[in-house]
Amino acid sequence: MSIQPGSMAARDLDALLHPQTHLGQHHRTGPMMLQRAEGVYMYDDQGKQYLEGLAGLWCTALGYGNEELARAAYDQIKQLSYAQLFASKSHEVGVLLAEKLKAMVPIPDARVFFGNSGSDANDSQIKLIWYYNNVMGRPQKKKIIGRVKGYHGITLASGSLTGLAMSHKGFDLPLPGGRFLHTDLPHYWRNALPGESEEEFATRLANNLEQLILKEGPDTVAAFIAEPVMGAGGVVTPPRTYFEKVQAVLKKYDVLFIDDEVICGFGRTGKPFGADTYGIEADTMSLAKALTSAYQPLSAVVVKGEIYQALLNAADDMGPFGHGYTYSGHPVACAVGLKTLEIYERDGIFARAAALSPQFQARLARFNNHPLVGEVRGVGLIGAVELVASKTTKAPFEPAGKVGAECLKHCHDEGLICRAIGDVMGFCPPLIITPAQIDELFDKFERAMAKTLDWANGQGLLAA
Ligand SMILES: Cc1ncc(COP(=O)(O)O)c(C=O)c1O
Repeated sequence: MSIQPGSMAARDLDALLHPQTHLGQHHRTGPMMLQRAEGVYMYDDQGKQYLEGLAGLWCTALGYGNEELARAAYDQIKQLSYAQLFASKSHEVGVLLAEKLKAMVPIPDARVFFGNSGSDANDSQIKLIWYYNNVMGRPQKKKIIGRVKGYHGITLASGSLTGLAMSHKGFDLPLPGGRFLHTDLPHYWRNALPGESEEEFATRLANNLEQLILKEGPDTVAAFIAEPVMGAGGVVTPPRTYFEKVQAVLKKYDVLFIDDEVICGFGRTGKPFGADTYGIEADTMSLAKALTSAYQPLSAVVVKGEIYQALLNAADDMGPFGHGYTYSGHPVACAVGLKTLEIYERDGIFARAAALSPQFQARLARFNNHPLVGEVRGVGLIGAVELVASKTTKAPFEPAGKVGAECLKHCHDEGLICRAIGDVMGFCPPLIITPAQIDELFDKFERAMAKTLDWANGQGLLAA
């Protein structure tokens, strides 16, 4: 693509520093300029239509241009455009949204702390748990265990929990001090030993987690953090019995479970939370993204009552709980969140996701036979296909990401937006997608895959 001088694309290169972008590639190809969106479709500045196959960044569950959400924001701006929650000030929509979440989450006697993003939610998790262990008289219990390829955000601390090389490289992360550890990636297809069953694989990983806790010293390990389905690390669904076995280890050593529901929360896996799908009994939960269907930036940390009670008991000794953001519980974001949850409930959106899942997963599974595909995986309305150089040996492409990038280009040509995570093609459409649109999504992807195969054959990239 040639970038016309003076065009918005050229001005983009002169003015923006793009997040999570290969900057050199960006200067060679220019941006994809998106201009408007309606329902599950986006339109670029040339009027080309794209089917949204990733719900923005796994977040726009109700699609685009929803009148009710726009109205909720407008009305709240007119009534109370801003109010803080610091120093005992409060407002109705903040209380109503916290009450609603408290009633929804599978966490006993929950309390809700609001932030603005998934990353700051996970930073808040870390700070809350450190603070909690300090007031509980165990100041040495501070280490947090994430997983290889887990994604929990990008700030200094949440980025340290993330287990992706790209998030660490060049940023001097994880933070020094030995407080951020990583255990195995629970990817059965890729990492099982020859002849190992899914259950045996889960047992081995739970044993490895136990060994790590013992090596570090259980009295130094505060928490384990996991996404029910790993999203940005390649849409990895957990092997059977994994969470059951992991939780038994955590309970044994009094290690808290932080459930990162930033992608899985609010119906994505076919149930309200990933915790419901996988039998996770979390101590705390991080929520963001679909909490407002991305119409406003809003996140929530939900903690069990027992943790809140410990903070409350310590308050007279510790003084004010010194954590929070200017926009913690921003009323406009809370009003939109409240309306989003009302729509989920009224329109049965979670049940709808569950009902659409068999069609979505069946269409995805058809790619199992494709010569480029090593594995197809997914649950609810999230899924992925992993592209490999050899179906038999599972050998990945070299260099990693080149074939995924090519496939993404063909998806865009076909009018489909999805995500290339290296050579894993990820799908996570808005939950309002219709059966016909699911077919449209995978018809487009089929054509993109055919072109990618031609190209890969032309380049001699497939193993003989
Ligand atoms: C599971 C999970 N946790 C945390 C985050 C970070 O959220 P944010 O980008 O809003 O900071 C993400 C973002 O994709 C995520 O997928």
